[in-house]
Amino acid sequence: MKELILILDFGGQYTQLIARRVRECHVYSEVIPWNTPLQEILDRHPSGIILSGGPSSVHDEGAPRIDPAIYDAGIPILGICYGMQLTALLLGGQVERAREREYGRITVRMKDRAGLMEGLTESSACWMSHTWQVTECPPGFHATAETEHCPIAAMENREKRVYGVQFHPEVTHTAEGKILLLNFLFEICRCPGDWNMKAYAEAAVQQIQDAVGSEGTVLLALSGGVDSSVAAALIYRAIGSRLTCVFVDHGLLRKGESDQVCHVFSHLFPVRFIRADAADRFFADLKGVTDPEEKRHIIGRDFIEVFREEARSLGKMDYFAQGTIYPDVIESGQGSNAAVIKSHHNVGGLPKELGFTELIEPLRMLFKDEVRALGETLGLPHELVWRQPFPGPGLAVRIIGEVTPEKTAIVRESDAVFREEIAAAGLDSQISQYFAVLTNLRSVGVMGDERTYDYTVALRAVTTDDFMTADWARLPYDLIERVSARIVNEVPHVSRVVLDVTTKPPASIEWE
Ligand code: XMP
Repeated sequence: MKELILILDFGGQYTQLIARRVRECHVYSEVIPWNTPLQEILDRHPSGIILSGGPSSVHDEGAPRIDPAIYDAGIPILGICYGMQLTALLLGGQVERAREREYGRITVRMKDRAGLMEGLTESSACWMSHTWQVTECPPGFHATAETEHCPIAAMENREKRVYGVQFHPEVTHTAEGKILLLNFLFEICRCPGDWNMKAYAEAAVQQIQDAVGSEGTVLLALSGGVDSSVAAALIYRAIGSRLTCVFVDHGLLRKGESDQVCHVFSHLFPVRFIRADAADRFFADLKGVTDPEEKRHIIGRDFIEVFREEARSLGKMDYFAQGTIYPDVIESGQGSNAAVIKSHHNVGGLPKELGFTELIEPLRMLFKDEVRALGETLGLPHELVWRQPFPGPGLAVRIIGEVTPEKTAIVRESDAVFREEIAAAGLDSQISQYFAVLTNLRSVGVMGDERTYDYTVALRAVTTDDFMTADWARLPYDLIERVSARIVNEVPHVSRVVLDVTTKPPASIEWE
């Protein structure tokens, strides 16, 4: 990798966001734990280092500290919030509890608009969230920005190329944060800005080829979701038909999905593809089960069993591949591990029982939107790459009560109508997730001149950035009308359609 920004993570809630913002500027970045040994950092020859925010006070006992020699390594450093305060403390400045805690959008006055602040307006709205602040700059530094209650809202030592900002340039509420980051990356760190998915794909293909060798074989569990599909396409590019994909079809996928996966991996990426048609087994095991957790448990167990049976019948494979992505890596605290290959330790025992010792995770350094961009670069179909999230247990968690093939057909058809109409209205990229749910409620209706006693389908559509919280999407009335009319007319056994208007929390996105 020619350019690299390392982000030392002090536990701030926006650390991942910093990495994403940097990559959006076409500069490769990685998040590493704050206590990574200095030599390890230097050995990676970063173009720049960003010190993240964090929940501690620099004066707390046991608060994260770094080796001050980092400031003498000649590498540009930008400290954000905690990162700025730590820089001040370690280099001889003062950090004290703020008299007025600043939280939210605060007007910051830029006092020195050269260097890091070049191009920012004099008064700029910035996102702040701090209880402590720098009250005295270290020797060699001067204050470059201030707020009403924080006289040193930014500081710098231009000669040493060490900078600190009390506000958060990475959040979108900081109106001109992107300009500041661009200044740091391109003017100060002199990054070329050539990180893109084509370059990533080339490097990853090479890494996979080096690791697997000219004869090695790889087994991948393909779920049909975005991550495992992109991983398959990438590994296929590296080793061709030495990749075998096992696709367990549990009969609980959306309309057309199973066939699409088969088509893509038989024609576009002709891997050795095994489709295990296991719907009967899943439905048999789900018979009579109504508890949501029990359903999930049964589906998870069956999935592993079917996969294991298929894998056994294939004979020995050298590597096991999966589509782990960067947020999982960061959240599991594994920090930096740039290689796509590593010894397994987080796959719930599956490869161990199959006798694998090595995992290939070619997406483990990518965010979701980058995985999608990579998928497009590799030539995967647009609909597959931009697929909305879909839970592993599939439609089973969208059927309240017992799961049967008949009920699955009802929810699948209703969902297809909803998806079609959302796409026709051009709203698919604006709504984060939308689907139909088959409630266990039957009600009286009238169709033709006949009394009916049929099911109620609920429509769920949400907008969200991170799926941790969500708002219900304000769908146009005429769209809801069309969907409702089509579902009751076209899908047998549905006589009523309702709309879920609950936020998360308190409701979850899925109904089970
Ligand atoms: P909830 O329902 O918890 O969903 O608000 C949040 C997001 O996670 C998805 N989800 C799952 N994804 N396996 C998955 O891979 C699961 O068991 C699962 N359950 C929920 C859900 O679709 C939403 O995007």
